[in-house]
Amino acid sequence: MLQKLHDGKTRTVLVAGGAGFVGSHLCDALLLRGDKVICVDSFLTGSRANVRPLENHPRFRLVEHDVCQVLDIEEHVHQVYNLACAASPPSYQADPVHTMMTCVAGTGNLLALAERHNASLLQASTSEVYGDPEEHPQREDYRGNVSCTGPRACYDEGKRAAESLCFDMLRAGRTDARVVRIFNTYGPRMQPNDGRIISNLLVQALSGDPLTIYGSGEQTRSFCFVTDLVAGLMALMDVDPNPGVPVNIGNPGEFTINELAAMILTMVPGRSKIVYRPLPTDDPQRRRPDIARAKQLLGWEPKVQLSQGLQQTADYFASVLAEPELRATPSRAKPGSNMTGALQIGA
Ligand SMILES: NC(=O)c1ccc[n+]([C@@H]2O[C@H](COP(=O)([O-])OP(=O)(O)OC[C@H]3O[C@@H](n4cnc5c(N)ncnc54)[C@H](O)[C@@H]3O)[C@@H](O)[C@H]2O)c1
Repeated sequence: MLQKLHDGKTRTVLVAGGAGFVGSHLCDALLLRGDKVICVDSFLTGSRANVRPLENHPRFRLVEHDVCQVLDIEEHVHQVYNLACAASPPSYQADPVHTMMTCVAGTGNLLALAERHNASLLQASTSEVYGDPEEHPQREDYRGNVSCTGPRACYDEGKRAAESLCFDMLRAGRTDARVVRIFNTYGPRMQPNDGRIISNLLVQALSGDPLTIYGSGEQTRSFCFVTDLVAGLMALMDVDPNPGVPVNIGNPGEFTINELAAMILTMVPGRSKIVYRPLPTDDPQRRRPDIARAKQLLGWEPKVQLSQGLQQTADYFASVLAEPELRATPSRAKPGSNMTGALQIGA
């Protein structure tokens, strides 16, 4: 059933980063609900292939744009989701200055757009704001253990600055900004070569290559299936009133990387072995969300078990590997890092 606004009109939702892994699933869910969707993406790490099935949808529009540059949309927008940002370490470290500017100038530009349209904005923040956490599991009031000088800082500190901008705009009464802290999410449409743990291990297993584990493999992660995440994003965007605090969305099930690799080896039988490599700088040892706030404020909790979601993701990667033309081909273009003057947010 189509969801209408109070005045009977269709809701128009802008999804920045809508051609990415999470963004494309969000576009699907919003269209299914009956919204109009404007997908804004520079295709830095996302891909046209992710939204190709939507291109002829009468309520879908694709705008190619880098959010570091001022964005204007003539039609009235009711909600803005800001997912635009390279999300895996190799992609966000490829041009760290652009990553930082995407977080700060990009979020600033989208907040300004939301302010002009009197729209709500949901900022996709990350569990990386907790850095290598000294508290476990991570609750939203934990302030984190983050390096502002390391190679991950462009992302971790960029996302922290973006949160700060959102809460400043909210406190000033200028934008109805909401902040979600997303923990590791996986599912179909992840890039096979994005350097994230689940895609790495599944693609290696499906290709019959050794599974690479960094460090001892005893570091832990929690993994949320993408449809669960999208339900959480929409719940936080729609909840009334705005909770005014960041909300963790993730799956609290905690697995060591060795356990994950063992599950994948069972699921994708073959001759793959495990090889161990040195741990990258600042790689966190433990990650698990405390989701009490999401449960209480949104009535949200994840539904998809890891084994179930992994199977769907393995099936997706198997089809991508069988038909390489389905493989998304992000441009990896490196826009200029000199973004002076590209920020629209006013004083
Ligand atoms: N997937 C996860 O596990 C995870 C975890 C924590 C946070 N997040 C956040 O969720 C969001 C989506 O992540 P994802 O996994 O879908 O990553 P993704 O790389 O697949 O999607 C990001 C999208 O943003 C676009 N983009 C990047 N910079 C842009 C710019 N300057 N202007 C316009 N478009 C730009 C990319 O082309 C891509 O389509 C990101 O903001 C990420 O930080 C994701």
